[in-house]
Parts: sequence; C-alpha cells; structure tokens
Amino acid sequence: MSLHERTVKTTAKRFLLPFKSKAGSPPPVWLMRQAGRYLPEYRQVRTNAGSFLDLCYTPKLAAEVTLQPIRRYGFDAAILFSDILVVPEALGQKVSFIEGAGPRLDPIRSGEDLSRLDLSSSNDKFARVWDTVSMLGQKLPSETALIGFCGAPWTVATYMAEGRGSTDQAAARNWAYRDPVSFGKLIDLLTEASIAYLSGQASAGAEALQIFDSWAGSLADDEFDRWVIAPTAQIVNEIRSQHPDVPIIGFPRGASASLAKYIELTGVDGVSCDTACPLSTMQTIARMGTVVQGNLDPLLLVGGGEALDKRVDAIIDAMKGLPFVLNLGHGIVPETPPENVARLVQRIRS
Ligand code: CP3
Repeated sequence: MSLHERTVKTTAKRFLLPFKSKAGSPPPVWLMRQAGRYLPEYRQVRTNAGSFLDLCYTPKLAAEVTLQPIRRYGFDAAILFSDILVVPEALGQKVSFIEGAGPRLDPIRSGEDLSRLDLSSSNDKFARVWDTVSMLGQKLPSETALIGFCGAPWTVATYMAEGRGSTDQAAARNWAYRDPVSFGKLIDLLTEASIAYLSGQASAGAEALQIFDSWAGSLADDEFDRWVIAPTAQIVNEIRSQHPDVPIIGFPRGASASLAKYIELTGVDGVSCDTACPLSTMQTIARMGTVVQGNLDPLLLVGGGEALDKRVDAIIDAMKGLPFVLNLGHGIVPETPPENVARLVQRIRS
C-alpha cells in the first residue's frame, strides 16, 4: 500500500505534498548537509560547542544549527542536525571527529568485538536527539517540515569496521565474506537500534524520515540484497506499523542500477537519487508513484553561475508534474559560497 492510500493528515506543508501524490510547482526544495561548514554562523556555533558530538548531543545548539539554513533560505524542509555515527556512539563504540580529517572510531571487526556494544545503554544518548526534535517543533516556521534521519545499517557498519571513512569499505566487506554470521549480528543490532532511534524521532515530531545508505553502491548484488535491502525493509516495516503517517525516504547512493528492486523490496515512500542517476531513471520511478529527490551535483553549487542555472532548469523540466523534491545528489561541500545556494533557491522559485 502506498502512502497516499493510507490515512494521512491534511497539511499545508509543501514538502509533504509529493508524498500525497501532489506534484508541487515549483517543486519543494531542501539540500543534504544544508547545515554545515559552508555557513559562517555554523562555524561559529561549532567552535563554541567544543566537539562535533557535543554539538549533536546539546539540543539547544543542535536546534540552532538546524534552523540556520531555514532562516537564510526558507527551505521547505529542515533536517535534524545530528550524524549517522551517533548510533554506534550510543551503542558504546568510541567515536570522535577530527577537524579536517573526518570521523575516527575504535574498529569493531569480529564477533568478539561485538561484546563492546550494548543496546540497553543507547536510549540516554538518543533521548538528547529526541529533545532536539521536540524543541524544533516549537521553533520551526509553521510551513517548514522536519525530517529526521539515521544511517542505514550497512553504511554505519562500514564506518564501525573501518574505524574511519574509506574509499572501498574493505573492512566491512571482508568481515561480511569471512564471517557472515557475526557480521549479520552487527547488522541486526544496528537495525534494532535504528528502529528505536527513528521511532523516537517520529514520536518527538519528525514528519518524514530519511535513511542514508551512502555506501550502498559498493556491494555485489547478492550482498546488496542481504546487507542493504533486508535491514532497510525491516526498518521500514517496523516504523510504518508504529508511525503510518510518516513518509520514509531511502538514499541508496551509487545503486541506481538496483533502484527499482530497492523500492519494491524495501517499501520506501521516496528515494533520494545521487548525482550519477540518469534523469530518465528518476522519471520512470516517479511515474510509478515513488517520490524522487535529487539530484543536482553539489559541485555546481561551488561554481555557481549559468552552469548551475542550466542544470537546475533541466532537472525541474524533466520532473515537471511528477512527485518530486529538488535536492542535491550528495551533501553540500564546505567550499560552497552561500550566495550560490541563494541563487539556486531563487532560480527554483522564480
Ligand atoms: O544538514 C544536514 O544534512 C544534517 C546533518 C547531517 C550531518 N551528517 C552533519 C555533519 C547529516 C544528515 C549527516 C549524515 C552523514 N554523516 C552521512 C550520510 C550522508 C553522506 O554524507 O554520505 C555520513 C556518511 C556521515 C558520517 C560523517 N559525518 C562523515 C564522513 C563526516 C566527515 C566528513 C565531513 O564532511 O567533515 C561527518 C561530519 C559531519 N556531519 C559534519 C556535519 C555538518 C562536519 C563536521 C564538522 O562540523 O566538523
């Protein structure tokens, strides 16, 4: 059953219209990583917060940086400010963010290492994020929707096993081949934690949820079924039974060739498409009733100018009349001049 066939509360929020089978014209817009280092006001709060995790776990500060891009640009949706690595941190893995180098974790690579993780301790940390969501319900403009999120179990596991970002996700892929039983236990634990984390966000007021699977594209197709599709389907089923009105968006980055299968077998209401996904694929999917988000190249926001305008026009034109949300194919990069984001929003709405 698709979302619009289920009972949904009527609302004027533009971001939610495509999920009720109504194409917005112009399309609703928000951007992945719309809160972040490209904004001077973010860098200010980030410096005062101490560490990145302190920022994520302090509701007042996390709510403030969530609101910054809404004030500047009036996006149709705000995305909760947090990180996908909050989940392993809450489970007891040591996580830190090194300035200019990205995340570092004490790697977990075997069945024995799993004993360092504990689901029962995670709720205290999650509750701080849920408090941010509640606070945002009070502070956001009435026309702005609030999106909650988590990382998909596979992508979170790649960071947990590698201990950092990687180009090939080798530590997780090797573990999954060497010992699928213990790797499966990690995926099951992350699935359970993600359900609790997302469900709490929806209960606190998140109006849509996005599951970020940034490294979905690194798996062979049988492994994709097992480590991407199966846990995502479990999360979608459980969240839907608890929160039938909250649309769920999947972002299986790099997996355009498996997108139709991903949609069919996970039951997501929408997909975020990466920059390499052909517009023709996005049209086909949207015509079949799945909401499509995407897929402007974040680098066009760095350069700006006519190249940006031309591609924005082409995407909007291709998706006219279809259930579509304009977004990027991946997150805003720190080098982005804020005025180019303003130019994008103006272009869409003019
Ligand atoms: O505005 C938003 O989109 C909301 C907040 C958000 C962040 N991370 C804040 C953040 C969201 C939705 C994420 C998701 C996330 N985090 C993903 C999935 C999307 C993607 O980018 O592929 C992943 C893989 C992560 C893990 C992560 N967090 C990495 C690899 C890094 C380092 C890279 C970098 O850009 O520095 C982070 C840090 C991070 N998460 C920052 C922000 C604003 C920058 C850290 C800082 O301020 O020092």
